[in-house]
Amino acid sequence: MSNEPDEPKGLQRGLTNYGDRDFALYLRRSFASSMGFTRDALARPVVGINSTPSGFNNCHRSMPELVEAVKRGAMLEGALPLEFPTISLGEAYLTPTSLKFRNLMSMDVEEMARAQPMDAMVAIGGCDKTVPAQIMGAISADRPTVILVTGPMMTGRYKGERLGACTDCRRYWARFRAGEVSADELSLVESNLATTSGTCAVMGTASTMACLTEILGFGLQGSATAPAVHADRLRIAEESGRLGARMAVDPQAVRPTQLVTPASLDNAMRLLLAISGSTNALVHLAAIAGRAGLRLSLERLNELAATTPVLVNLKPVGANYMEDLHAAGGVTALMWELRELLDLDCPTVTGEPLGARLKGFDPASIDRSVIRPFDDPIEPEGGLIALFGNLAPEGAILKRAAATPELLEREARIVVFTSPEDLARRIDDPDLDVGPDDALVMQMAGPKSASAMPEAGYLPIPKKLAAQGVKDMIRISDARMSGTAYGAIVLHFAPDSASGGPLALARTGDRIALSASRNRIELLVDDDELARRRAELPAAPDEAPRGYAALYDRHVTQAPEGCDFDFLQHPDLQRSRQQED
Ligand code: FES
Ligand code: MG
Repeated sequence: MSNEPDEPKGLQRGLTNYGDRDFALYLRRSFASSMGFTRDALARPVVGINSTPSGFNNCHRSMPELVEAVKRGAMLEGALPLEFPTISLGEAYLTPTSLKFRNLMSMDVEEMARAQPMDAMVAIGGCDKTVPAQIMGAISADRPTVILVTGPMMTGRYKGERLGACTDCRRYWARFRAGEVSADELSLVESNLATTSGTCAVMGTASTMACLTEILGFGLQGSATAPAVHADRLRIAEESGRLGARMAVDPQAVRPTQLVTPASLDNAMRLLLAISGSTNALVHLAAIAGRAGLRLSLERLNELAATTPVLVNLKPVGANYMEDLHAAGGVTALMWELRELLDLDCPTVTGEPLGARLKGFDPASIDRSVIRPFDDPIEPEGGLIALFGNLAPEGAILKRAAATPELLEREARIVVFTSPEDLARRIDDPDLDVGPDDALVMQMAGPKSASAMPEAGYLPIPKKLAAQGVKDMIRISDARMSGTAYGAIVLHFAPDSASGGPLALARTGDRIALSASRNRIELLVDDDELARRRAELPAAPDEAPRGYAALYDRHVTQAPEGCDFDFLQHPDLQRSRQQED
């Protein structure tokens, strides 16, 4: 679906032709005229604007002014911008979890980008699952596309302290559970955690995906970090509209499939490691790669982690917020620091190589309290690693940078919860048989489970231990965790327990061995006993009988494949997977 030179443009694109094409065009123009457009407007190239406001999505509150700025840019370049909706995914409002609906949104974006007559698209999203959904849809439709993120929130204030969603939400909640903060104070803090439009103010999933969008070349320079309420954000929106209009008439315009290559995925993983970004990004990046016919390799992640330093001092790992990262130089400054490790020849949406963004960059402008120099990093090695072993034959993920270091090389007795519901029932039971040196395990929270891989992997410290001052424990599950969370948490176990993965075989009283330095996670139970337990596993739960849930149950893939639906992956990838089966 490129902009082929001989392809009809604007409203003439994709006309359904039942033998009389001129009549079909006459009809389409007549209807379009009812919206008050002149013949001149209707003859222009069309920039579709994928707009995603929703009363259920606070992170997209600024959508109207962003759409207006994109339209202005498109019109300044002589195109006709036409806004169209798709579904919107607001992180806090979706049951059982927003991830379940990311693929639905990606199908919506893909099909509407393809079915409607637009020559280029500007897709505006922000909250965690929206941007990956838009990138996935854009790749599959392969229409020239600019991704514009809504931008991060500014911080709020409470008693002189800066607060930002949602690392500080978690911090205050943990203090409340430990009895350090009263219910009254907690409710005072509540209205100061998220105070402006935009996405979470820390290096959570939305911010991480925004940074990856910029380095993958889908977004304009500076577009990841400019705060939602900053004038820069509107200028970037206007420029995104202009670029959309230029792409709409350019047969050589860069297409989304050209932006996703082994080299650009390496760049994205390097940046992810340097920012100690959200673990969720690995799921989304794998799905994005899969749409382009590529696999994201967790072994490759570990290779890159060994040589990529952590450079950004941002919550949840460090002290600062996204507004600080923007002021410190943003993704451009990080690219400057990482330049020896990046492939700067990768294309970007403007048609220029990534390296062009470093032209004229002055490293003296970098705020070193937020972005460390390459040779004086926060950590010499990357913040995210994959673990393998008999508990995770296809991998599990550990955000090393966010964990208590002493917990990363250790053997521990485990306490097992058989599902998120079981955990909710028992975790605060004063009689729970658990001590501070145990590890907590939760099963049935992966992509194939009824809960559809929720952000439940940040298992709470049992109340009685929290009250004793225990702040971190090894916590293991096939769930995900919010990018704003922290702790010695191992996630994304694949295959997951609902599809019979080895995590399902763990029992309270077993021991596990975790070694971050050796990338290992093992269940210390002998193979015969595991085989005996496997034979006793209950049958897989029934698939949903109808609707989107049935599609999900039948087709969702495991975390290392991005939890995309198998039939949405690039046909080459589907073929190679069938050959393996
Ligand atoms: Fe939307 Fe955090 S809730 S980005
Ligand atoms: Mg989140």
